[in-house]
Amino acid sequence: MKLKVITSNPGKVAEYQRELSGYGIEMEHTRIPYNEVQTSELEEVVNKGMDAIVAQGVRDFIIDDSGLFVDALGGFPGVWSAYAQKTIGNKGILKLMEDVEDRGAEFRCCIGCDISGKRIVVTGVCRGSITYSEMGDGGFGFDPVFTHDGNRTFSQIPMDEKNAVSHRGNAVRLLIDALKSNGLV
Ligand code: IMP
Repeated sequence: MKLKVITSNPGKVAEYQRELSGYGIEMEHTRIPYNEVQTSELEEVVNKGMDAIVAQGVRDFIIDDSGLFVDALGGFPGVWSAYAQKTIGNKGILKLMEDVEDRGAEFRCCIGCDISGKRIVVTGVCRGSITYSEMGDGGFGFDPVFTHDGNRTFSQIPMDEKNAVSHRGNAVRLLIDALKSNGLV
């Protein structure tokens, strides 16, 4: 079975391949432009994205969307994480969180998989908190200001450790469970 990974980020293809190769699924990097809807829910972004791709006659594919949801900011930047990262960046998030006591936040990753005519949508979550300063130089995006254990940021832990607890790792594990329980792998 081949699944197209529809993304502009080739790094994601390798990640999916690593997790799903044990189940006889081969990933194929595909770029298909589609409009992302403006809404505050990742699941809605993914479901509408899948509708738009299926409407182009494309089947057997994966798309995903993820973001950082900060409790004290009403879930911001959430679905606007890529834009917030590009504009205000980590320094902007820390500034918004200045003097804020409630540091709770979570990363969420929603994966939509169209496979053998079925649609599976799962969301993986990783709870944690926003630090008071940037720490570490690994990873990407909001990694330097997010800690899952209240001690080290995602920028300060090895990739394998991050995958074991991260929103994306959890989402892929939920996807595999759903594929298994639907008899698709
Ligand atoms: P995407 O939907 O996976 O492209 O993620 C959207 C944005 O969320 C990225 O541009 C990052 O700013 C942020 N983000 C998603 N996942 C992570 C992560 O694991 N670490 C840090 N930032 C992330």
